[in-house]
Order: sequence, then structure tokens, then C-alpha cells
Amino acid sequence: MDPMLNIAVRAARGAGDLIVRYVDRVDSLKITPKGRNDFVSEVDRQAEREIINILQKAYPTHAFLGEEGGRQGVARGDFVWVIDPLDGTTNFLHGFPQFAVSIALMHKGRLECGVIYDPLRQELFTAKRGGGATLNNRRVRVTNQNTLKGALLGTGFPFKDQRYVEAYLGMFRELMKDTAGIRRAGSAALDLAYVACGRLDGFWEIGLKKWDMAAGILLILEAGGIVTDLEGKDKYLETGNVLTASPRLHAAMADVIRPHVVEGLRYVPPLSKRLGDRTSE
Ligand code: IPD
Ligand code: CA
Ligand code: CA
Repeated sequence: MDPMLNIAVRAARGAGDLIVRYVDRVDSLKITPKGRNDFVSEVDRQAEREIINILQKAYPTHAFLGEEGGRQGVARGDFVWVIDPLDGTTNFLHGFPQFAVSIALMHKGRLECGVIYDPLRQELFTAKRGGGATLNNRRVRVTNQNTLKGALLGTGFPFKDQRYVEAYLGMFRELMKDTAGIRRAGSAALDLAYVACGRLDGFWEIGLKKWDMAAGILLILEAGGIVTDLEGKDKYLETGNVLTASPRLHAAMADVIRPHVVEGLRYVPPLSKRLGDRTSE
């Protein structure tokens, strides 16, 4: 296995073991609100420290972007590890068995490797750019589902930022009519991993963060899937809005979703880029 992927797997397993030790002790945990409908526990923080300790020992010149600690390590580095130590915290805190550790490595902004680990089922999803995607060392691929009819989709609700609830419900209403079912399981990282391995045919969500999706996106790309933002462009990391499926199903989902994409869900280039474009005209 690729050495960097190998270290990422070690870090994900280390954090996963730590999380599992707390599963029956959730009541004794200190839980702090981070924002509307958003909570963090000491397990999230400890797991992130565990991951960064392992990665930093192996790669002292790399930078880290963790959900709990933000940007850490060297100030400027070509290599950045993007870490969600516990994706599905609300599930974890309720004893709902669907959560995971997600770790991705980016080099100069490009995804290089990704690991998602479900510590309860001991399922390890890995991807290496150009090297395919695996579940417990077996190659996985997205499904061949071509149509909405018969498709099983995953999604996440926009429960933190409620500005786009109406737009989201418009998408949901249309897709619900035409598909076999829609699941909201509560861990975007696992939802994406499930698309990569064919348990879900497609997935969409508004307002994700880099650490929720970086590893999962690489898994899907390496498993033959298409990943875009809601407009069908490649600005998913910038907008946090993701639409993903096998190629033909992706096109069918995009047709349904596009009419509901309101202002604010569209990609807007940063001001510096817009000014730069104007001066070069
Ligand atoms: C959350 C989960 C959830 C998604 C949220 C994320 P967290 O991550 O991935 O499925 O709907 O947008 O914030 O907070 O549990 O790490
Ligand atoms: Ca998350
Ligand atoms: Ca998290």
C-alpha cells in the first residue's frame, strides 16, 4: 500500500478505536454546542489529536485542516491533511450506529488519498488517486443505475443553515416521486463511501465542509462516479454543495435539481479572482 495511505489508515483506525471505547459512555461526556444544531464532544477533540499526532510524526512538514482545531502544523505546505475525526457526531451522541472517521490528503489542492473508517462495522474505505477505491481491501465501483426509477439515493438535510430549506425541499420532493427511496443516515462521509461501493446509487447535500467530503469524493471518483456541485460544475469543495452518482444517473439527478438551485447555492468566484479577470480583459 502507498506509504501515505498506510499512515492515514493507521491514524483512522487509532481514532476509530478511541471512539468505540466511548460508545457506551456517551452520557458521561462533556458536550459543547458549536452553533445551531451543532455539537462537539471531547471524543471529537481527542480523536482529532490522535490522528494529527500519528500523521505529524510521519510527516512533520505537512499541514493539517481539522474540523475541531482548524489549520494546524506548518503555515504553508503543499501537503494538507483534511480531517473529520468523527463524522456523524449527532448520531454518536444518540447511540445511533452510523458514524466514521474521515481523512484525506491534498497536494497543491488536488486530492491524493482518502480513508473513511466505520469503527463499529470495522469497514475501511480507501482511495488513492489513479489507484482505485477499496472496501476492506476489495476493489469497489459505483452502481450501473442509469435512471431515477429504481434508484436508492442518500442525502443530508440542511439543518444548520436554514436559508435553503425551501430550495432543498423542492429537490427532495421531485426526487422522492421518481426514485425507489431516499436515506438520511447522518454521516456524509459514510454516505459518500456508500455511493463509491454501490450501496447508494447517488447522493446530494447542501452546505458540507471540506472535511465532511474530501475523502469521500476521491473514493467516488476512483470508483467511477461523477462528482459535481449542484450546477454540474466542479466547485463542490468551494460551495460545499455536492451532487454525485454514476454518470447517467448523475445527469438525471442534475436535471431534477437544477431548477431548484437558487442564488447563494451557485458558485461565486472570490473577489480577488473576479478583479483579476477584469484587469486581464
Ligand atoms: C455532519 C454529518 C451530517 C451532515 C452535516 C455534517 P459532523 O458532520 O456529516 O451527515 O448532514 O452537514 O456537518 O458534524 O457530524 O461531523
Ligand atoms: Ca462532518
Ligand atoms: Ca465531525
